Amino acid sequence: MRIIRTKDYNDMSRKAANIIAAQIVLKPDTVLGLATGSTPIGTYENLVQGYEKGDLDFSQVKSVNLDEYRGLPRENDQSYYYFMHDHLFKYVNIDLANTHLPDGMQEDSQKACAEYEAVIEAVGRQDLQLLGLGHNGHIGFNEPCEEFKKTTHCVNLTQSTIEANKRFFASADEVPKQAYTMGIGTIMKAKKILVVVSGQDKAKIVKEAFFGPVTPQVPASILQMHPDVTVVADEAALSLVK
Ligand code: F6R
Repeated sequence: MRIIRTKDYNDMSRKAANIIAAQIVLKPDTVLGLATGSTPIGTYENLVQGYEKGDLDFSQVKSVNLDEYRGLPRENDQSYYYFMHDHLFKYVNIDLANTHLPDGMQEDSQKACAEYEAVIEAVGRQDLQLLGLGHNGHIGFNEPCEEFKKTTHCVNLTQSTIEANKRFFASADEVPKQAYTMGIGTIMKAKKILVVVSGQDKAKIVKEAFFGPVTPQVPASILQMHPDVTVVADEAALSLVK
């Protein structure tokens, strides 16, 4: 595991975007695994700037997103479909037919997960998987549990995740209670993994996830077993790590 310590959030965002940009330049038909949440927003902004400058071409890029809330329509501005369009897809020349997220409006959860597994299979292994880190150690919406779940599944969001995400909704009651998420097995199949983390509030979980025991109670800890992980984290997030 490679850890890149950055000065602050902006520095983290630029460095993470540079890694993704290099991947696209080296392999224009790259399969990107993409994440939502507040942490990668600056990374996406930098990628958009790279596109606007003419340095990046997304025309052959394919993407698979980690997760989607169950029951939120695409038009809802808190859906991850909306997020991806609002922060990246609508500003670059990616072919929307090559972008994929779980279908949050598919009520039959078994069908939703099976369909997304088929999509992931068809798109192929991610060349580069971008991840954020939840306060409870979740990656995607793989919440702490008894075992690492391999494939796409429907998850009951923990109270900690609902609390963390309520800032985006009118109240905690409005936060969907379930989500569809890519499994840990699929995340681990990515050729390269890039984790972005920022802020003092993530310092404890950074230490546990990347320097503590590997356990499904801290899902991100499994990344210690992956052969090519880069963590780009700011000083605040790394403040408990020597
Ligand atoms: C989002 C996702 C989540 C977030 C995590 C951190 O697609 O998969 O695992 O990365 O909840 O969220 P932020 O960046 O908002 O702290």
